[in-house]
Amino acid sequence: MSKVKITDTTLRDAHQSLIATRLEVDDMLEIVGEMDNVGFHSFEMWGGATFDSAIRYLNEDPWDRITKLKEVAPKTPFQMLLRGQNLVGYKHYPDDIVHKFVEASFTRGIDIFRIFDALNDVRNMEVPIEAIKKVGGHAQAALSYTISPVHTIDYYIKVAEEMVALEIDSICIKDMAGLINPMDAFNLVKSLKENFDLPVCLHSHCTSGMAPTSYFKAIEAGVDIIDTAIGPFSFGTSQPGVETMYAMLENTEYKSDLDIERVYKIANYFKKLMEKYKGLLSEASLTVNTQILHFQIPGGMMSNLVSQLRDQKAENRLDEILLEVPKVRKELGYPPLVTPLSQIVGAQATLNVLSGQRYKLIPNEVKHYVKGLYGRPAAPIDKDIEKLIIGDEKVSYEKSPELKNPSYQKFRDEVKDKIEKEEDVLSYALFPEIALAFFEKRKNHVTKPKVEHKEIEKAAPKEITKTQPVKQQPQTNGGVSLKAPLPGAILKIVGEIGKPVKKDSVVFIISAMKMENEIVSPASGVLQKVFVKEGDVVQTGDVLATIA
Ligand code: CO
Repeated sequence: MSKVKITDTTLRDAHQSLIATRLEVDDMLEIVGEMDNVGFHSFEMWGGATFDSAIRYLNEDPWDRITKLKEVAPKTPFQMLLRGQNLVGYKHYPDDIVHKFVEASFTRGIDIFRIFDALNDVRNMEVPIEAIKKVGGHAQAALSYTISPVHTIDYYIKVAEEMVALEIDSICIKDMAGLINPMDAFNLVKSLKENFDLPVCLHSHCTSGMAPTSYFKAIEAGVDIIDTAIGPFSFGTSQPGVETMYAMLENTEYKSDLDIERVYKIANYFKKLMEKYKGLLSEASLTVNTQILHFQIPGGMMSNLVSQLRDQKAENRLDEILLEVPKVRKELGYPPLVTPLSQIVGAQATLNVLSGQRYKLIPNEVKHYVKGLYGRPAAPIDKDIEKLIIGDEKVSYEKSPELKNPSYQKFRDEVKDKIEKEEDVLSYALFPEIALAFFEKRKNHVTKPKVEHKEIEKAAPKEITKTQPVKQQPQTNGGVSLKAPLPGAILKIVGEIGKPVKKDSVVFIISAMKMENEIVSPASGVLQKVFVKEGDVVQTGDVLATIA
């Protein structure tokens, strides 16, 4: 048995979990030199939502952040979180972009790359791992942890075998919802250590209150590395506090030899700093959420469901939806409830309850998931439900051949007049509109925004600007009315006025619950009138169009 190594997540996951990823680089630079002398195994300080948040909200160059921090803290290895082929974005990027991104991150100073796929589809991790090995970085592959009848130890060992075949350097158990209990942590770590000759890390969140104890049992089972955060940036929905874990191990053979006195000083700095950001803290992110244990629904997903129901004026249906979520999850092959799958399962469960008929309304994202666009689920999707969702359309888990087409030069040509550094091409390839807006602000020396002292929404991939709701119910002149089956914003009008429409053909796409929902014609005929325009917000029962 040996001393446990400790990774600090304060500069990435901790502020992503507690203050919507808004920690500014200047506030990190003040203290990271001191943190460099603590003896941490690594700093998780980049990736995840930090890239998006830097260009979207902070007007800060995410690439420069690595360089600036590295200058002040050259000793401790830098670690980033990479969402498989999604990198730090929300969709699969072409292989050459993956290679360029990894190479640029490594050159800037990232040493350890933690790669994961929400569905544990290892094929989504192949190209990133190949890219990391090519530049000489440390490839740490993560198992996305969840609980279900198919997510057994045997399952995780099988996934880990596929990862190890790619010549990774270490394994991480990534428990993003804080669901792992102490004995499960013990058994899983023990099996991983018995099966593979690689370092194992446990990453959890305090959301359900079990993480420090699960860490302790994992350490007893031989885990090599645990993820912690400092002072007020720990606990709540963040990682366990390093001070607490240090104290828990004090009289054991696993005692960490990091400089705890220095950590106490650093914690004082973060305590003062939290004053600046405290407006971003929500009560939900600071308290243990026991509903997670009751429903096995992660905290973020629960608050999402509640706010969606508030929008739909259906808060009284929450209990029915909480019972529907596990059914939908089972039918869809037990996806782990993390973004975007938590939204997909949550939206479908909500629609199943509110529309009064299961799978009557199906968001496009659910169809894409069932068709295999997000990867292969842990268990097969229920055949009858699959038929309801995509009819006779084909399911394919094959990687899209388009991802093999080189695309870097195309992106470069598109922005060559706007870039100041080569990495700008990558920022643009990942977040086209946001990157262009950022380049413009950078050119005009726009200073970063002040932190707003109110709760703000976490970075979401898709947002709709709301306009005034449709007020009066229009005259339908005897045609068949097409009514909104759910409240939302008109994203697209697909049908054309005066043109024929068939029964069940798509006339509108409504954005609701961050999902795209196709609204179909109730009858065959001619699209006579349309009473809404794109961007309008509609309520259930509003007449959107008439079919003559
Ligand atoms: Co995490």
